[in-house]
Amino acid sequence: MDVRERIALEGRDLERSLSRDFYVDPDIYRQEMDHVVSQQWLYVDHVSRIPKAGDYFLFEVGGESIIVTRQKDGSVGAFYNVCRHRGSRVCLTQEGNAAFFLCPYHAWTYNLDGSLRGAPYMPASFDKAEAALDSCSVRVVEGLIFICLAEGEVPEFDHLAEIAQPFLALNGLATAKLAARRSYPTSANWKLVVDNFQECYHCAPSHKVYSSVHSKDKILAFGAGPGSGPQQAVQRFDQELEAWKETAKAAGTWLDFAQESGVPRSIWSVGRLPVKAGSLTESIDGAPVCRPMGDFKDYDGGHSAVAFNVFSYFLSASDHAIMIRFTPRNVEQTDVEFQWFVHPDAVEGVDYDVERLIGVWDITTKEDKKITEDNQAGVYSRRYRPGVFSELEGRLSIIKQWYLSELARGMKTEAKEAVHV
Ligand code: FES
Ligand code: FE
Repeated sequence: MDVRERIALEGRDLERSLSRDFYVDPDIYRQEMDHVVSQQWLYVDHVSRIPKAGDYFLFEVGGESIIVTRQKDGSVGAFYNVCRHRGSRVCLTQEGNAAFFLCPYHAWTYNLDGSLRGAPYMPASFDKAEAALDSCSVRVVEGLIFICLAEGEVPEFDHLAEIAQPFLALNGLATAKLAARRSYPTSANWKLVVDNFQECYHCAPSHKVYSSVHSKDKILAFGAGPGSGPQQAVQRFDQELEAWKETAKAAGTWLDFAQESGVPRSIWSVGRLPVKAGSLTESIDGAPVCRPMGDFKDYDGGHSAVAFNVFSYFLSASDHAIMIRFTPRNVEQTDVEFQWFVHPDAVEGVDYDVERLIGVWDITTKEDKKITEDNQAGVYSRRYRPGVFSELEGRLSIIKQWYLSELARGMKTEAKEAVHV
């Protein structure tokens, strides 16, 4: 059975997890990289990582290495780290500052805008203008750098950027200070990592700390999207939400929920909810972890969440913000990175303690790494079969539908183009 037939078969039942091949087969993974991952706007880092012209870092996704750099005119550029001579990696260090990029193999040099600067002993017929580094699309929203690897027509991003902007601006993200960064490389297919992040069915059994920090009724009522859980929990949480909404409205920090609809080109959502009655922020004891940031004058006990797509997320409370990126590296490896941001003037040891700041999500993500790797180990078995989703895993059917439709759409377009050649 070829991949297209397998997609059609999978699409017949959206209420179950995917078949084994979708988590372990390198051929399907290659198709996903071409048709699903490359069609998304991936969060790569905050602008504060490259403040000066020539500052750069490498972003690795799938088998690709991308150089993300601050150009001379102050804009952010992103280029494939592949020399246009004979294909060597140009940049070998993870981050740094460069006046230009020097390929170590035969010493071709590239300007910060990707154009070829020098190529010794090339024939007179050689056209330097045709040998610039391949570029990726870049957008910057409130200090967050997104790149897209799509060739040809680039997927729409501005609409979601507009919807997400007030959530990011509320925390003053454009000028926020990066206080901590942690990596949790996970030996599991990216879809297991993403699915795990999009459901909270596992929260009670697997995340004791997270479940004690957040309202129990909220986890049940909102764990798979608004109003998706058992009706009693939805009704109880509605009361909690209404009470908090009044406080947030009075403080000017209320922002409404929104999410994708139909069969979307991308999975996204934005919203603000209370952490838990009595908690001022999302911390282990509910007490502040830093001074309020951005437009927050006080701790409003709320928690913002923006899913830009299945790979890039923003979470925040009044005193800190978190950026999360899930990056496929190969069929069974996914990079998981968390970045914590605070008020630009906050001083470590005075205004915040890193361990307290990262506490909830550091514990939770270590737990997620373990359960997801155990999930992958089980999926390898010949006895694994797709299982039925619970009432608390509603988002997973929507993600499955999106994933299969994107894969099918990309492969159809590719087949059409092949016919035209
Ligand atoms: Fe880069 Fe030859 S491969 S200069
Ligand atoms: Fe989890």
